[in-house]
Amino acid sequence: MKRSKILISLFAVLIIASMLLTGCGGTATQAPPAVTEAPPAATEAPPAATEAPPATTLSVGVVLPTKEEPRWLQDEARFKEAFEAAGYEVQILFSDGDSAKERTNVETLISQGVSVIVICPHDGTAAAAAAQEARDAGVKVISYDRLIRDTEAVDYYVTFDSIAVGAAQAQYLVDKATGTGNPLYLYAGAATDNNAFLFFEGAWNVLQPKIADGTFVIKNSSEAVALQDKATLTRDEMSNIIGQVSTNWDFDVAKNLSEANLTAAAAADKGNVFVLAPNDGTARAIADVFASDADVTSYVVTGQDAEIASVQYIIDGKQSMTVLKDVRTLVADAIAAAVAYLEGGTPEQTNTYNNGVIDVPAKPSEVIAVDQANVVEAIIDSGYWPASEFTGLP
Ligand code: BGC
Repeated sequence: MKRSKILISLFAVLIIASMLLTGCGGTATQAPPAVTEAPPAATEAPPAATEAPPATTLSVGVVLPTKEEPRWLQDEARFKEAFEAAGYEVQILFSDGDSAKERTNVETLISQGVSVIVICPHDGTAAAAAAQEARDAGVKVISYDRLIRDTEAVDYYVTFDSIAVGAAQAQYLVDKATGTGNPLYLYAGAATDNNAFLFFEGAWNVLQPKIADGTFVIKNSSEAVALQDKATLTRDEMSNIIGQVSTNWDFDVAKNLSEANLTAAAAADKGNVFVLAPNDGTARAIADVFASDADVTSYVVTGQDAEIASVQYIIDGKQSMTVLKDVRTLVADAIAAAVAYLEGGTPEQTNTYNNGVIDVPAKPSEVIAVDQANVVEAIIDSGYWPASEFTGLP
């Protein structure tokens, strides 16, 4: 049900996008008939594309942070799929984890005359200058997945509910824990990524009462221990903790940090452990380290992104859970927002996110916790990844 609803909305968005980008688009009020007429429109798409070459008609560019993580390759593929389905190519530029390259990418798109730029910043604050440059050139800026911070030059934020991601990870740990004194190891994302704060905030909201009541005992962060009686943390307080347990979204950093933590911990601080790992890439690195420690009897470890390698880890019992953030929805939302701007309108808003300077309008999407119990339903039956990607499916 849910998937068919998503597909219908994606299809509707693509039809509208295709009409707009060929220059024959109607207004937002004409959208519903276009959806009803969807099959003929789709059949007619190829000739329209021939008449209006993508290079001259495309008004949207996408800038993604890095090719080093499967997450962003996934976004690239889903963007291409969505635009190609509408008969267009989209210009997607990667910033190689470098804010200077990101700015050059934005400048390239501005000089190509795009009207809307979708940016997933490598570093949320450093991206402010590029966003301002786009604003000065009259280009709409859509912050994608990660919030561009400390600037007024962000028009819209396309995102998942990142607080809910952290809450789902923490709730999973809580649900698996019994008794008191369970060793808890905390890890976080990159301090340059606003999402790292949102994930941690969501997790802390759920974990803190369970630390206060003795269910969990933090083992790898003196900063977190110092703050463990506080139900809510300020950004500066979270900064202190994240500074100590950041993976920097880097698998090697995650591996080295967790190895150092386990080396420093006594055997009594291990046993059946609980690990808040911020995403799938770092979760696999951390899980491998915990799995190879003789004093770790069992571990529960979280993740997010439903990367293929982590879904396989879940099937194999090496990672406990992931949080599925359906990138198809995010891409559809980004295209819908771009189309709204191209039409002179504004995208749908249900929330705002403060970026340090302004409240940026947004419409966060839901996320789904996935473990062995629902992996087939959530990942395979939903069409997110094909069963052929995996071995040993239940
Ligand atoms: C994204 C995650 C991703 C992480 C590392 C975050 O901003 O929301 O999905 O795993 O960055 O790239």
